Amino acid sequence: MSYNFDEIFNRAATNASKWTYAPAGTIAMTVADMDFRLAPEIAEGIKEAVDRGESGYVSLMESDYQAVIDWVKDINGTTINREHLIATPGVLYAARTAMYALTNPGDKVVVQRPLHTPSIATASMMGRIPMMNQFIYENGKYMVDFNDLEQCFKNGAKVFMLCAPNNPTGRVWTKEELQNIAYLANKYNVYVVSDEIHRDIVWGNNRHISPTEIPELADRSVAVFSTSKSFNMGAYHIGSAVIPNEDIRKKVVSRFYEHGHPCDRPSLLCIAAQTAAYTRGKAWFQAMKSYVGENIRLAREYLADLPIRPNDPEGTFLLWIDIADLGFDAEKLRHVMEHDWKVMCDPGSYYDTKDYMDYTGLEHHVRMNLATPRPLVEEACDRIRKYFK
Ligand SMILES: Cc1ncc(COP(=O)(O)O)c(C=O)c1O
Repeated sequence: MSYNFDEIFNRAATNASKWTYAPAGTIAMTVADMDFRLAPEIAEGIKEAVDRGESGYVSLMESDYQAVIDWVKDINGTTINREHLIATPGVLYAARTAMYALTNPGDKVVVQRPLHTPSIATASMMGRIPMMNQFIYENGKYMVDFNDLEQCFKNGAKVFMLCAPNNPTGRVWTKEELQNIAYLANKYNVYVVSDEIHRDIVWGNNRHISPTEIPELADRSVAVFSTSKSFNMGAYHIGSAVIPNEDIRKKVVSRFYEHGHPCDRPSLLCIAAQTAAYTRGKAWFQAMKSYVGENIRLAREYLADLPIRPNDPEGTFLLWIDIADLGFDAEKLRHVMEHDWKVMCDPGSYYDTKDYMDYTGLEHHVRMNLATPRPLVEEACDRIRKYFK
């Protein structure tokens, strides 16, 4: 089957967050969903469920869990033990629930920066105390500051929230980096909660590795992921968690129940959608990935000779662009995006932790979402280029 990712359709008409936030006449490249139609194979799976006419509370069937296991094996090459796999109502909810289950109010939780803002917020919720492990930024690449991470762990951190691959920098963590984390986590008895929502979208020779696959780390790790970024299924409220350690798994599952959300009972239509994505969606996923990969290549090429520096993401469909040379503050940037470029990217200030830690060091970046039809990518880059001519 061939798919038309070039099609531009009016997402504002259905109140899509990305397009309703964007002022009229601007191209919205913010919220990390895709401007592509739902894969026909997933639509078909949902329709079949509707046609069966069932409704009500259901649990995932064994075949639904097997679909997750088979997908991960196929795309990533790793085998998830069925006993370690649980269903969740979504990635952020699952990451938060795991963090709550492993900490008490007053406990310290480490997050890294830059990071998707709601994930940073997670660390400071329900009385937990956030600790910040800032990346080292060298030659356009973000590296873990392991000395600082050790200091955080030494100072009493209970949980380390990892984002793998990292949103917004697109870093895909190497085995060596994960082994360093394992060493420190074991030394200081820290749990790792790994948000792997972007795990399927990695570029070139990079390979996503989960802490749950690192033998020295598996027993203290929770990994959470979903079809959200791979199949544009944001807000379907269904996902998966891999928790190798039985005690931790029990704690997390009972937390879901305490919060009123039995983890194995997402809605019937979302189960149908997830299983259709994992069992029938590979051709769409691969076509989408090569289309978006080409978008990234093109955007980097179009923007290359401007006084801004797009990164070369190892994963995700996001471009993280260093605009420090422009000397804009957050207000000026917003004005330029809205009135001059007419292209809305997420401003770096969105990834600052101003509300939690009074930090504003990321305002000299923007995040550009490239999971959008190529004509829009070309038009957006043209508009930005014109501004500099
Ligand atoms: C790193 C990361 N985690 C979590 C989420 C949200 O996941 P969910 O909608 O399943 O809660 C996003 C969405 O952009 C994300 O980028």
